[in-house]
Amino acid sequence: METDLKQTEIQAKSEIKSAKTSADLDLVSKKYLGSNGVLRLSFKGLAKLPEAQRRKQGAFLNKVQKEIMGFIQEKSETLGKQKTVFSKDDSFDFNQPGERIVIGHLHLLTQLRREVEEIFQSMGFSVALGPEVETEWYNFDALNIPKDHPARDIWDTFWLKNLKLLLRTHTSPVQVRYMENNQPPLRVIVPGSVFRHEATDASHEFQLFQIEGLMVDRNVSVANLRAIIAAFYQRLFNKSVKTRLRPDFFPFTEPSFDLAINCLVCQGRGCQVCKNTGWVEMAGAGMVHPKVFQSAGLDPKKWQGWAFGFGLDRLAMMKYKIDDIRLFRSGDLRFLNQF
Ligand code: DAH
Repeated sequence: METDLKQTEIQAKSEIKSAKTSADLDLVSKKYLGSNGVLRLSFKGLAKLPEAQRRKQGAFLNKVQKEIMGFIQEKSETLGKQKTVFSKDDSFDFNQPGERIVIGHLHLLTQLRREVEEIFQSMGFSVALGPEVETEWYNFDALNIPKDHPARDIWDTFWLKNLKLLLRTHTSPVQVRYMENNQPPLRVIVPGSVFRHEATDASHEFQLFQIEGLMVDRNVSVANLRAIIAAFYQRLFNKSVKTRLRPDFFPFTEPSFDLAINCLVCQGRGCQVCKNTGWVEMAGAGMVHPKVFQSAGLDPKKWQGWAFGFGLDRLAMMKYKIDDIRLFRSGDLRFLNQF
């Protein structure tokens, strides 16, 4: 019987050793120590033996049982350690790979805004900001858009209840605010969020990010505007870009233009993005209207200026070939993590 038990112990030991998971180990434990396990049966067999033999065998059986329990205990500890960095005795396992910390990054539009700011700053422009909750005066009247003027319909507006306040529909009001506080000559860009009360689709959002540009001096012309805009796009896209000005209408500029660049997706050959025209409209622009100078307290006979305003969202769509404007503010990390 003793040799049988020795054999059982060796067998149990090798099975414990090859257990790969806690579940494996449980099975082995049950097989040897369970209520119907190998050792239990041997204990039952003792009853039939004469007194002296029973004692000797019993003692031996106890010893084997203790051995096997010890092995199982040891193994369960090593298996446990593989799962957690901290083992039961609280020591730190320096061989475990560290947990990866998820680090956020700047939103695509923030990255692009910074790029735009740097390019204009390198051409001598300052960066100014204005309020998102704006008065009717700055958003409309000061820009030569009086009450009941049909041009107000261009900007579907979010009005604040019971106040003469609104969410600015464009960054142009900051032109007037800036000229009130800074004497020309001046060059400034104004980045900021603007809001439109309109239905959304792949190319319309009720919140956009605009960049306004303004240059005022004694002798400023459309040629300056064109040169600056061309230099800007060339720097931004890192390739030569053609610009096109076409007549347009804005109450705060005269003359007014729509400013387009050649489609960079198809190089002007014609594609979906440019609707087969080879051109993509990027900005509104024009020579600052005398009434706007007057609103800011400047003499239009002394000063000339040009201004432009464009959507950063549209620019990002062009630069990264994004076909749905709603993605920017969707909070979808699958989209955002690509940039
Ligand atoms: N503020 C206009 C808009 O949001 C864009 C614009 C057009 C701005 C012409 C300008 C400009 O500064 O000169 O639709």
